[in-house]
Amino acid sequence: MSINAVEIIGSKRDGRVLSNEAIAWILNTYNAGGVAEEQMSSLLMAIFFNGLNAEELNTWTDVMINSGERLSLSGLSRPTVDKHSTGGVGDKISLILAPLVAACGAAVPQLSGRGLGHTGGTLDKLDAIPGWRAFLSNEEVRAQLESVGAVICAAGQGMAPIDRKLYSLRDVTATVESIPLIASSIMSKKIAEGTEALVLDVKVGRGAFMKDRDRARTLAQTMVGIGTQHGVKTVAQLTNMDVPLGIAAGNALEVIESVEVLRGGGPQDVRDLTVALAEAMLELVGISANPAEMLDNGKAYETYRSMISAQGGDPDYEFPKATRIETYEAPQAGIVNRLDALGVGVIAWRLGAGRARKEDSVSAAAGVRVLVREGDSVEKGQPLLELHADDDSHMQAGRDALSGSILINDETPTLTPLLIELVRK
Ligand code: URA
Repeated sequence: MSINAVEIIGSKRDGRVLSNEAIAWILNTYNAGGVAEEQMSSLLMAIFFNGLNAEELNTWTDVMINSGERLSLSGLSRPTVDKHSTGGVGDKISLILAPLVAACGAAVPQLSGRGLGHTGGTLDKLDAIPGWRAFLSNEEVRAQLESVGAVICAAGQGMAPIDRKLYSLRDVTATVESIPLIASSIMSKKIAEGTEALVLDVKVGRGAFMKDRDRARTLAQTMVGIGTQHGVKTVAQLTNMDVPLGIAAGNALEVIESVEVLRGGGPQDVRDLTVALAEAMLELVGISANPAEMLDNGKAYETYRSMISAQGGDPDYEFPKATRIETYEAPQAGIVNRLDALGVGVIAWRLGAGRARKEDSVSAAAGVRVLVREGDSVEKGQPLLELHADDDSHMQAGRDALSGSILINDETPTLTPLLIELVRK
């Protein structure tokens, strides 16, 4: 049978199942420049409407993985386990979790990215430490996993290269929000990274990519299915992202908060989520350890220090404070009925902590500290948020984004628990 792009697009447009051969042909030919962008755009839109079944999705993901390099982590003396979060406001969990799980005896290869829009990227946070290197060779990753047990570094450009091309195309064709395309994009990179086990933190709510719980559950089930099919032990935890995680949103502010948690303190929600994800990761690789104890006895913090030093950073580096710090105060007395994660994320972004385009730079010091939680009673004039910026124009942009971020009235809100549901195969 001869295969051509028009027939494949037509099949998916009409809701038919694509053969493994057709999927491999179109993705590989597109990657090699032999399928036009407008043809791949049409196929993505057809998938957006008609989806991919489990077999199509596995093949789609396989081809993406096989389009590039795969890191080999076999032969390490510790089992490997990673975590991926779909991204939220104030989500600094990776910085704490990687050294914590390493302190418990596993190896954690956290290959991460930079942030875009209102959610921050893990690398942006550590980039705030002078001398710290995000780019490591595969040999360096392996060596650090063996010696320290944890690496947080940039995902190599050689992994799943088709994903990069497809992601850019999805971005300009309104096809990002397709569950099979999101699931294959995330999982192809995580599987190529070579981890044996994976815990997915799928965020749900106002500040998350997935606003709706049913869609988040479907995404989680789809990713768990792909991981399991590829021999990676995978579970997903649905977690609440209606409100920001912890107090700090912004690069250096989040590193400071992470260190507090690593030293046994910090906000309770950040600690609780880190411990829950650590327990899930350790269970997948059969290690029985007590992560909460490792936060309290200093072992996790010690591992964090080794992880930062191994990549050229100074773990004792004191971040310079933002040159402009001001508070936003309650306009009236009442109850904090809504603290909007998306609103807070946008304020931090406008203050300079995030980027609008991939090429933009971010400020280390800029961000927000959230001084109240939903359900708190506040007095008129009580500080609600602390805004940090490097210059007046960013401070003004942050002030302009305040509207709607916090609602104060006399109604006690119904709070959603942080840990919503664990999804297993
Ligand atoms: N993150 C990814 O890596 N891919 C997606 O499609 C969405 C979020």
